[in-house]
Amino acid sequence: MRRGSILSLVGIGVLAGGAAAAVAVLVPWLPPVASRERARIDDVFWFTVVICIVIFAIVAAVLLYSVFAFRAAPDDDSDGPPTHGHTTLEIVWTLIPTLLVTAIGIFSAIVLSRNDHEGKNPLNINVTAQQFAWSFTYPEAGNLTTGVLRLPLGRSVELHFKALDVIHSFWVPEFGQKQDTVPGLPTKLHITPTKTGTFDVICTELCGLGHATMRSTAVVMPAKAFDSWLKSQNKATSSPNASVSGAAVFKNNPCGSCHTLSAAGASGKVGPDLDKLPQWAAQAKQPLESFIRTSITDPNAYTQPGYPKNVMPPFSSLPKAQLDALVQYLIQSSKKG
Ligand code: CUA
Repeated sequence: MRRGSILSLVGIGVLAGGAAAAVAVLVPWLPPVASRERARIDDVFWFTVVICIVIFAIVAAVLLYSVFAFRAAPDDDSDGPPTHGHTTLEIVWTLIPTLLVTAIGIFSAIVLSRNDHEGKNPLNINVTAQQFAWSFTYPEAGNLTTGVLRLPLGRSVELHFKALDVIHSFWVPEFGQKQDTVPGLPTKLHITPTKTGTFDVICTELCGLGHATMRSTAVVMPAKAFDSWLKSQNKATSSPNASVSGAAVFKNNPCGSCHTLSAAGASGKVGPDLDKLPQWAAQAKQPLESFIRTSITDPNAYTQPGYPKNVMPPFSSLPKAQLDALVQYLIQSSKKG
């Protein structure tokens, strides 16, 4: 091979590889990293991307060089010389990809097993998925249940999933993992948050009419702030005299993802408009207060005409103080609206 040819091949390879590397590095393809597990998954991702860029550069160099160096003259209509492959070359280009794919497989297996392994003193949280809401229960805080997932920075967290109706899937892009929730099959997921902030919790399995609204929020707090939040919640739910804000109960539960309520800035369209509760109660021929209460704890006893049956899950596990506050809040808000 001439020296000029080798220089051209190397030159084209460096240009093609450089262009691919620039596209890979300069475009922000992935969301920010917010968990230890996600950082490991990204390592596998970048390992694979580097292999791809190197192979792309080699293939692009040989291809482009051949197109120009070996093209036939315009008046050359003769057949090319007969060739019979190149056994050594074929062995090499079979062996190298085999080794690379095996390396990716081993790397992935190591990352998967490390991500599956919870750290010391994990925080257990029970996650319930139902059409179309997430709820999070903290056994460490007297089974406090909220609609917002709060997590301490740097502590290993174990989420235990339970699906009440159909298959859903839990996903926080910044945490990098997805986990299906399957009726009758307990599943779990480890997360070790490495960044404080607010992230979206998304249902990533088509689960029915309100699938697109099945979203919640994950808030990662500094460990101390998390502990004092947990303590304050523990007190608020266990003391019957603590004043509970109905607006907070509405916000902590997923009501707003399906219902409209102007007072709470909620604009869901899956269920009936809560600004018109007095009108709906009159239509159902029920007193407003008991109509609202039953609609929360046993929503399928009466279904608003024009809406599908059995869509809303019963919120029968709300502590009484929270339920009372929520009912009063809805009465006041809907009368205003
Ligand atoms: Cu639950 Cu989609």
